[in-house]
Amino acid sequence: MTRKIVKSKYHFEPDLIETIGEVSIEEIKPWGSNDELKIIGKPTSRIDGAVKVSGEAVYTSDVILPNMVYAKILRSPHPNAQIKNIDTSEAEQLEGVLYILTYKNAPEIGWYYNTSYLFDKQVRYQGDEVACVAAESEKIAEDALHLIKVEYENLPFVTDAVEALKDNSPKVHEWGNLPRGNPDKYKRGDVEKGLKEADLVIEDTFTTQVVVHNTTEPHCSVAKWEGSKLTVWDSTQAIFNVRDSIAASLQIPASSVRVIKKYMGGGFGSKLEAGKYSVIAALISRKIKRPVKIVLDRREENLAVGNRPNSIQTLKAGVKKDGTLTALSHHSIGSIGAYPDGAGCSWPLRTIYKCENVSTEEYSVFTNTGKSRAYRAPGHVQGTFGLESLIDIAAEKIGMDPLEFRLKNYTDKDQVYNIPYTSKKLKDAYEKGANAIGWHRRNKVPGSSNGILKRGIGMATQIWWGGGGPPAYATLKLNRDGSVNVMAGTQDLGTGTYTFIAQVASEVLQLPIEKISITIGDTETCPYCGASGGSTTAASVAPAVRDAAEQMKAKLISGAAAILETSEEKLIYAEGIISVKNDPSKKITIHEIISKMRERVLVTTGARSANPEGYMINTFGAQFAEVEVDTFTGKVRVIKIVAAHDIGRVLNPKTLENQFHGGIIQGLGYALMEERKVDSNTGKVLTANLYSYLIPTIMDTPEIEVIIVSEGDSMISSVGAKGVGEPAIIPTAAAIAHAVYNAIGVRIKSLPITPDKVLNALTLIKR
Ligand code: MOS
Repeated sequence: MTRKIVKSKYHFEPDLIETIGEVSIEEIKPWGSNDELKIIGKPTSRIDGAVKVSGEAVYTSDVILPNMVYAKILRSPHPNAQIKNIDTSEAEQLEGVLYILTYKNAPEIGWYYNTSYLFDKQVRYQGDEVACVAAESEKIAEDALHLIKVEYENLPFVTDAVEALKDNSPKVHEWGNLPRGNPDKYKRGDVEKGLKEADLVIEDTFTTQVVVHNTTEPHCSVAKWEGSKLTVWDSTQAIFNVRDSIAASLQIPASSVRVIKKYMGGGFGSKLEAGKYSVIAALISRKIKRPVKIVLDRREENLAVGNRPNSIQTLKAGVKKDGTLTALSHHSIGSIGAYPDGAGCSWPLRTIYKCENVSTEEYSVFTNTGKSRAYRAPGHVQGTFGLESLIDIAAEKIGMDPLEFRLKNYTDKDQVYNIPYTSKKLKDAYEKGANAIGWHRRNKVPGSSNGILKRGIGMATQIWWGGGGPPAYATLKLNRDGSVNVMAGTQDLGTGTYTFIAQVASEVLQLPIEKISITIGDTETCPYCGASGGSTTAASVAPAVRDAAEQMKAKLISGAAAILETSEEKLIYAEGIISVKNDPSKKITIHEIISKMRERVLVTTGARSANPEGYMINTFGAQFAEVEVDTFTGKVRVIKIVAAHDIGRVLNPKTLENQFHGGIIQGLGYALMEERKVDSNTGKVLTANLYSYLIPTIMDTPEIEVIIVSEGDSMISSVGAKGVGEPAIIPTAAAIAHAVYNAIGVRIKSLPITPDKVLNALTLIKR
């Protein structure tokens, strides 16, 4: 099949990436409704489910190699300090210690955009890397850390983003506390003019906390050399990113590095880039000529591998009495920790509602705390809480139903680029979601229900990208016996990638799913696919798999035509057998074709098609929450969440529901309990464990109802699937917060909504 390289665009999180990608020229007709399909859209159990529950599946943290040693990282106890000296002599004496890496013997490797080295003499947050010990056991390595003597000169520090913006604040980096020296700004129309046209101007401030990814499987890496060839098992969302970063850091060819990741216990954005631990493992392993394993512990997970930045958002809206939004503005400050990242959160305000006059100004500020990283819909979770709270307030002020207010400001065009969406079924999501929760049951007057336990209902809207795009490839091998191997350099973060790839191949080739074996997460044996992030995996990879399978079908048909001495048009393919249309006695099996070709394996490689020009690809949704607030204890219990979304085609309802459950429960934690706390006097994290950093358990989990209002989006690809990983979490916290308001009649504008905040709020009303 002919290929060419064409221009395409896609969104990876907020970044609009213009790329060129190789695509097949032959157009594949997009699938119609799921009713016409046999396996796609049908509840399909994870093909990797059994090996996972039996414990046979080898996660990176399970990898054990012959002769392997363990390494542990010494981290700074101080928020800002200069290292005057490191004395490792005593640690080196400990029996079983093999090697110690510090700034003294580490190569000067630039890291994170050259703002620090692998081991810098300045440490900028509690948790910054200071040294690493490799030893015969994890215990010995840990013991040795205590024997390393580090002389620190403590420096003034700042942990609060607002403080860090002041002129007299300590500077995290020499050049100041704003990575680029300026805030990020966006503007369209004229906000002042819009506010003048309004009947009412509403302004309010909303704040959100820092939360930590706390993936089930910690960040980890195992490095092994064989001559000049390095193999790294890494718990990562992006095997090719890790391969290239390690190769660049070690200044060796990328072809000499193989990165493998088979199974994974979550990433949520914290595993998109190579970690320092991976490079450290590779360096030490090269030195001591033994495989090295580094697994971070729960404390390190809470200190040093990323977080969702906090936000202080001041929003303004101009509203007419009929509900028209005449202006929206957004000002935000967020802490990105000690190294460059972004804390912007204005995208929902820029794009969800129809509004001509919009301005945003966002400060992503350095502080002496752990670096923030992309975290499941970065910016959107914070931003949606701010925007949707303001919208709820605006609706109430003009006496309009909050859902009607949202419909009044509905748009069929992307507001930033002024182009239409490939599809948007948010109206259906509003309608079906409202019916499912019983929207009419909410308190007409917030807080008006009687008794100690007060119930309320709220809702919020979601927008995200998640359309995926090229480049993404899949290689398909068909064996003589009709079994199939599919290889793709993508990742399964626990999300169901293995299963949807098998489903797509099974659907096209009409072969049982049990005959299809999937290899992913290996840079050496798999063709390139991008990072598993931005909710792009299924949207990018599924069409590449379909392309490979369709090509295989075409190849088989042409082979059958040659053997049966007929033309391809006269042949039909069904379940691995090709027959002549009006002479079904003339038929040939896959086995016979491949045998006659004297091959044992037929190979095709499929590619993701380009995205259409002039259209915006987004996901949309609305979540509705019902809560019960105990006005005696202040505790909020979420009774039910209805998630109604437009996410393109559903590939597998089972894993789709899993994704929504995960996102909603994580969103519930964000709404009600999770919070990284830093003591501003000492610069130390008070919650670096899972007993003071609370995450939801099954006891906190509400009834969850998932409603998908979309079918395949035929404009985006032959499969028409979009992502669900991030849409699932985006509106949850806002919906819960609005339900709390509806229950108690006082609005809590700061997350998490903990019992103390609820009780304080209730005291305010009683006065
Ligand atoms: Mo990302 S926050 O892993 O999509």
